[in-house]
Parts: sequence; C-alpha cells; structure tokens
Amino acid sequence: MISPFPSLSLALATSSLLLASTLQSVNAYEYPIDRASNRVYRRDNYAGFDDPRATGGRMLALANNTWPEGLGEPLNAILSAESDARVLDVNVDQGGFLNYMLSTSLGEECFGQHYGDPQNADLGDGKGNHTEMEVLRWNYGDIYVGTCRETFNGGLHLRYWRQNTTGAFFMGVSEELDLSSNHLIAFNGYDFGRDHFVGNVTNQTTVIPTLNLTNTSTYVGSTTWANYTYETSVKYISGLLQNSSEGINHPEIAIPGRAAIDGLVAVLTVKVTGVPPNSGALANLAAPASTFLAVLLVASALLV
Ligand SMILES: *[C@@H]1O[C@H](CO)[C@@H](O)[C@H](O)[C@H]1NC(C)=O
Ligand SMILES: *[C@@H]1O[C@H](CO)[C@@H](O)[C@H](O)[C@H]1NC(C)=O
Ligand SMILES: *[C@@H]1O[C@H](CO)[C@@H](O)[C@H](O)[C@H]1NC(C)=O
Ligand SMILES: *[C@@H]1O[C@H](CO)[C@@H](O)[C@H](O)[C@H]1NC(C)=O
Ligand SMILES: *[C@@H]1O[C@H](CO)[C@@H](O)[C@H](O)[C@H]1NC(C)=O
Ligand SMILES: *[C@@H]1O[C@H](CO)[C@@H](O)[C@H](O)[C@H]1NC(C)=O
Ligand SMILES: *[C@@H]1O[C@H](CO)[C@@H](O)[C@H](O)[C@H]1NC(C)=O
Ligand SMILES: *[C@@H]1O[C@H](CO)[C@@H](O)[C@H](O)[C@H]1NC(C)=O
Ligand SMILES: *[C@@H]1O[C@H](CO)[C@@H](O)[C@H](O)[C@H]1NC(C)=O
Repeated sequence: MISPFPSLSLALATSSLLLASTLQSVNAYEYPIDRASNRVYRRDNYAGFDDPRATGGRMLALANNTWPEGLGEPLNAILSAESDARVLDVNVDQGGFLNYMLSTSLGEECFGQHYGDPQNADLGDGKGNHTEMEVLRWNYGDIYVGTCRETFNGGLHLRYWRQNTTGAFFMGVSEELDLSSNHLIAFNGYDFGRDHFVGNVTNQTTVIPTLNLTNTSTYVGSTTWANYTYETSVKYISGLLQNSSEGINHPEIAIPGRAAIDGLVAVLTVKVTGVPPNSGALANLAAPASTFLAVLLVASALLV
C-alpha cells in the first residue's frame, strides 16, 4: 500500500543495509522506498504496518516506575492501516476508531479521569518514545457509567498509539485487577486480555481458546454501533513479540510453566460494511470542501 503520510525516517536510509534493501525492493507499489527497510524483518507478509524494531522502536510499551527499571507491556494488537480509512481516524461521530471501539464495548475513561500512569511507546516512526493517545476500558455494555465500573472493578483495557509512518494503531491490551489492587495485571492478563478483545471485535459467542492459538489462527466477525457496521478480520502472527517473560512488567502473572506472553500479536483489518442512512456523500465532505460549497451557495443566492 502507499503510505499517505510523509516519512520522518528518510535520514535513516544512510545505512548501506537499508540502501541495499531499498535497491532490491520487489514491488515499489507495495513497499515505498522509505519502508523497504522493514523487509529485513518481514518473515511473514506484514501488511498495513511497519515493524517498529526495524527502525529502532520496540514492541513493548514502557511503564514508569517498574522494578527493575525499563520493563514493558506488550503491544499485542495492531489495527492495520489496510483497514478502511474511516476507522483509522480518531473520532466518535463519523464512524471512526472510537465508534468502532464502542461497537465492542470499549469506551473512553470514566468522566475523563485517568487512574494509573500513562505509558510510552516507540513505534520506530521517527517520533521517539511518545505517550499513549488514551486508555479505553470495557464498559459492560453501558456507555454511560460502564467505564466507571471498570475503573473500580478492573477488567479489559486498551492503550493505543498511532504509527506516524503508516497510520496503523498499536495497542497494548490486558485484563487488570481492581483499583484496590492498584490496577495490576490479572492472571495471564496480557494474552487473555488480547483474546477477550479479539473475541469481542469479531463477535464470537465463546471465548477464544488462548492456549490453542498459533500463528495460523484467524477469526472474523462483525459488530455494530450507531448504525456503522464493522467487519473485523484477525490474524495472529508470531515473530514481533517473544514467547518469553523477558523484559515484561509483572511477569508473575504467567500461567505456571509458561511465559507471561505467548508472543502472538493479533492483527486486525477492518472493513466498514454498513453506514447510517443519512451519511451520504454530502455529509462526508471534508470541512474545506463543504465550506467552499456553503460560500458558493451564499454567493449564488446573492446573485439571484
Ligand atoms: C509459526 O510458528 C512456528 C513455530 O511455532 C514457526 O516455525 C514458523 O516460522 C512461524 N511462522 C511464521 C509465518 O511466523
Ligand atoms: C515517567 O516519569 C518521569 C519522571 O517522573 C516523567 O517525567 C515522565 O513524564 C513519566 N512518563 C510517563 C509516560 O508518565
Ligand atoms: C525509548 O526509551 C527506551 C528506554 O528508556 C530507550 O532505550 C530508547 O532509546 C528510547 N528511544 C528513543 C527513540 O528515545
Ligand atoms: C504524524 O505526525 C504529524 C505531525 O505531528 C501529524 O500531523 C499527523 O497527523 C501524524 N500522522 C499520523 C498518522 O499519526
Ligand atoms: C468480551 O470482553 C469481556 C471483558 O473482558 C469478556 O468478559 C468476554 O468474555 C469477552 N467476550 C469474548 C467472546 O471473548
Ligand atoms: C484445544 O486443544 C486441545 C488439544 O489439542 C483440544 O482438545 C481442545 O478441544 C481445544 N480447545 C478448543 C476450544 O479449541
Ligand atoms: C453478532 O452475533 C450475534 C449472535 O451470533 C448476531 O445475532 C449479530 O447479528 C452479530 N452482530 C453483527 C453486527 O453481525
Ligand atoms: C439508526 O438508523 C435507524 C433507521 O434506520 C434510525 O432510526 C436510528 O435512529 C439510527 N441510530 C443511530 C444511533 O443513528
Ligand atoms: C510458547 O512456548 C511454550 C513453551 O514454553 C509453548 O508450549 C507454546 O506453544 C508457545 N506458544 C506459541 C504461541 O508459540
């Protein structure tokens, strides 16, 4: 795909390794020059995002005040930039990312309050370590006070960042314990949280069997909110995160005999398959275009 966003990482292209992989670029349409370096890491056919590690980033978000210092939480879900552009925009009223999240019962925090420290992530997109955009919490199917309940009871929550070079969203999803436990991660809470999330976005009737997942597992299903319908295809991939507890914050949550994370990342590709009846072409005009139209209408009215 062609990235619509200007690259901030051209300066990195000085390394001869990157130049070499640029020159051997197989398909300029699919891998624009500034993204070709990621082919070094493309064991799988990663489409719709760049591997942050290829340009100095990490697949772990950094939690503050960890002991030992520098432990992180896995970015275990990615919203691919091959999703419909509508979903890749952060808005709630035009069928954007926040409406998509509401279709899966994840909402903005209780009255804008934030409990717990924000985390940083470096997505290798030239922006360095940057703070999460926000935290979304499971709202128990109740958009008004649901996230308040989650704040006190603990449960599914999601932090997200946007990769500037591609527009893909990298998400750290986990199940956490309640407020009195200081929102620590629940038992096997990274993998279970990821899979509850995938189960919700693909409208499953039963919980995804975490321990049976492999890098060939896929799920697909639809959800609806405010008359927008989203069809989500999920593919689990390995190779971006490790199947070990190394560097992971709260490694004690692991299932005995296993690692705190299984190393799988859920890659979501979303299609908008239904829009509200009133969201026709006019309503979708960008502000400058509709402003222009309004000016035109006023001008022609004055002429009459
Ligand atoms: C899937 O996982 C297996 C090991 O479990 C590994 O050998 C294989 O390379 C992986 N495939 C991909 C495409 O990452
Ligand atoms: C982490 O803590 C440092 C020092 O207190 C602070 O400057 C920084 O903003 C914190 N980072 C986040 C992501 O909260
Ligand atoms: C981000 O933070 C980590 C850990 O503090 C550090 O190793 C890394 O160099 C930082 N990356 C950038 C781009 O500042
Ligand atoms: C990339 O960063 C620029 C400058 O901060 C911002 O205007 C743009 O919206 C960002 N793009 C994405 C996809 O996050
Ligand atoms: C949806 O998420 C909730 C909250 O974590 C969880 O209890 C439920 O089992 C999930 N549904 C599926 C099908 O995974
Ligand atoms: C998980 O795998 C085990 C052993 O392969 C199998 O018996 C079980 O039915 C699987 N569970 C699900 C929910 O797929
Ligand atoms: C979600 O699944 C339920 C039960 O399988 C089904 O009735 C519903 O139509 C599905 N939602 C969407 C948006 O497809
Ligand atoms: C969804 O569409 C129906 C008509 O098809 C309309 O009655 C309803 O108000 C709409 N709901 C929202 C939230 O837009
Ligand atoms: C992770 O490693 C464990 C052994 O420590 C293995 O049983 C499990 O299948 C691996 N998981 C994945 C998804 O590769």
